[in-house]
Amino acid sequence: MISQNTIDTVFETARVEEVIGDFVNLKRAGSNFKGLSPFSDERSPSFMVSPAKGIWKDFSTGKGGNSVKFLMEHSQFTYPEAIRYLARKYNIEIEETEQTDAEKAITDVRESMYLVSEFAKEYFHNTLLHSEEGKAIGLSYFKERGFTNETIKKFSLGYSPETWDALTKEALGKGYKLEFLESTGLTIAREDRPFDRFKGRVMFPIESMSGRVLGFGGRILTNDKKAAKYLNSPESDIYHKSRVLYGIFQAKQSIAKLNNCYLVEGYTDVIQFHQAGIENVVASSGTALTPDQIRLVNRLTKNITVLFDGDAAGLRASIRGIDLILEEGMNVRVCGFPDGEDPDSFARKNSHDDLVAYLEANSKDFIQFKASILMNEAKNDPIKKADLIRDMVTSISKIPDRIQREVYLQECARIMDISEQVLVSTLAQLIQKDIADADKKQKQQQKPFEVVRNQNPNTGYSGGDPDDPRTGPPDDYPGEPGYPQQAEKVDILYGFERKIIEILLLYGSVLEDFEDVYLKADEEGVIKEVSEKRKYKVYEKVYLSLQEDEVELSNSLFQSIFNGLIDFYNQNESFSLDKYLMHLPPEFAQEVTNILMEDEKVAIHNWEGQNIFPKHKNVTIEQNVSDTIFSMRWYLVSKIIQELKQSLLSDPQEDNSELLSMVVDYSKLLNNFSRKLGRVVVPYH
Ligand code: CTP
Ligand code: MN
Repeated sequence: MISQNTIDTVFETARVEEVIGDFVNLKRAGSNFKGLSPFSDERSPSFMVSPAKGIWKDFSTGKGGNSVKFLMEHSQFTYPEAIRYLARKYNIEIEETEQTDAEKAITDVRESMYLVSEFAKEYFHNTLLHSEEGKAIGLSYFKERGFTNETIKKFSLGYSPETWDALTKEALGKGYKLEFLESTGLTIAREDRPFDRFKGRVMFPIESMSGRVLGFGGRILTNDKKAAKYLNSPESDIYHKSRVLYGIFQAKQSIAKLNNCYLVEGYTDVIQFHQAGIENVVASSGTALTPDQIRLVNRLTKNITVLFDGDAAGLRASIRGIDLILEEGMNVRVCGFPDGEDPDSFARKNSHDDLVAYLEANSKDFIQFKASILMNEAKNDPIKKADLIRDMVTSISKIPDRIQREVYLQECARIMDISEQVLVSTLAQLIQKDIADADKKQKQQQKPFEVVRNQNPNTGYSGGDPDDPRTGPPDDYPGEPGYPQQAEKVDILYGFERKIIEILLLYGSVLEDFEDVYLKADEEGVIKEVSEKRKYKVYEKVYLSLQEDEVELSNSLFQSIFNGLIDFYNQNESFSLDKYLMHLPPEFAQEVTNILMEDEKVAIHNWEGQNIFPKHKNVTIEQNVSDTIFSMRWYLVSKIIQELKQSLLSDPQEDNSELLSMVVDYSKLLNNFSRKLGRVVVPYH
């Protein structure tokens, strides 16, 4: 683990405009910088960097955060990768913290395996470029396939000599342990002597999303029908075939930027595409896609285009794997190549422009494609056609989005020349069955007497796509037709809670006079409400008020940000926004920067020639804070009253005296708040 000390130094040193300036052309705009969004194709700049606040905001996509968050969004780094990148940029030495022995043992094993794999990659690469044998056999093979030196470097292609133990001997000589050579599969153990797995092959290192070597594919150079063309590293602690995609490291930036990913089968397809100038491409390495692999892509884009070879077998295999991609909620397109061509050969024969044009012209939506292909086969066979309809509807049922499903049903009805009604009812049956299956599964997993809690107190339903009858809310969920006011209230509460965070961010440590109200007996023993001015820091006042009311923020993200901010104020005598933002967990970044950059948003509009001026907040901080707290209290109490009334109405037979007196008490409280707020407010209905 990177030590907190190092992380702090990195944040203290890194300047947001310098970090981003390496990727985006920034121009000064007052105290800020602006530029074209690296996340969308825009013509007028909506990307803002605030050196003073140490943050950035992309108004075209809503993304925002600090330097680290930028690297995570832009270069698809993980948090530690971003820290390491910045440390390198600013020449900061990385200090690692102590781990427990058990943790150390595990990381040590994996770390050693990474190290020896990295060594092997270098060894194979150097052998390819510099040894006589490597140049004569390996390099000339790659050259024959049309790979340039630049491409060979980019993918660290290599050559493993035609000697029993060339790599093993070299690695042992350099102090790498046999144990890790074996566990990575680079070396195969034999009693008398260990030998190289990849002897006499050209080598393709397989890298993780962050560029660590996980394993290798090695291609044989002879036409020996008995030997496998490709030999791959065996499964190990660091290499799980089902979780890697070849080329993802080299492709990730382009995939995110272009918002599409081409999926091919082979190593050489990926490499040839890069050389042709198309970089958003990865390979499944000859097998059907696994859910883990799909999720890797899903982190970068929702759109995938599956490319398959120009033969029927490839096509069939692709179709089978694609339902899985639909299930992950991705949009799938497919594109075939002319007979006898694969992406590698096609890219090699055509210019960049022709290749791009071909892909554009021939990529088809998967569902339509599948329907038309299979229709051709089933045209005159009613039984086949019935099967096909079920098959198609099964594919469509995998799509999580309801509207998209509708569109596809219409499209399919047209292609297959069948009434839409039939498809709709078949789909309904399938979905019913899915729900029943899921229910059954849930019931089996649920222990008797276990209380199932709603995860989301706001809406009373716990997630899923609200538009989806399978995962969406039940029909009586507030927000479905018939409950519009309820949905509105959720937004009101959201507004209050957001305001509270804004207050904490902007003036949490400001000392202000607040009115404290409490009960006190006077000389005659009459209990009276008295108020007294007292100094509080704003954050204390907010915290104490919420405590007093036993209120938690209903929005869980806000509650987490709130907790973090309160902790931060408690731990730091003097608050500085810079310092808080420095430690900002990446998952909070978007919301926090949204709140902080609200004013800059207005500035952005101004640049575009619209005459909008920022609102001036000419109320005092104390007023602002008290108003927010009282408004929120008032809102919450009026909600309680409404709920109480509801239960009075729904159960008129019962003895309701207790409920009634509660309503009265709460109503008094409500009036009280209204007075404090200095205005007459009408309760919500
Ligand atoms: N593959 C494999 N083992 C094999 C054959 C293939 O692991 N025996 C995987 C490799 O990842 C390969 C992919 O499946 O890249 C696609 O196979 P294929 O189309 O046969 O290979 P190409 O990449 O086209 O290789 P080449 O052009 O060098 O023949
Ligand atoms: Mn090929």
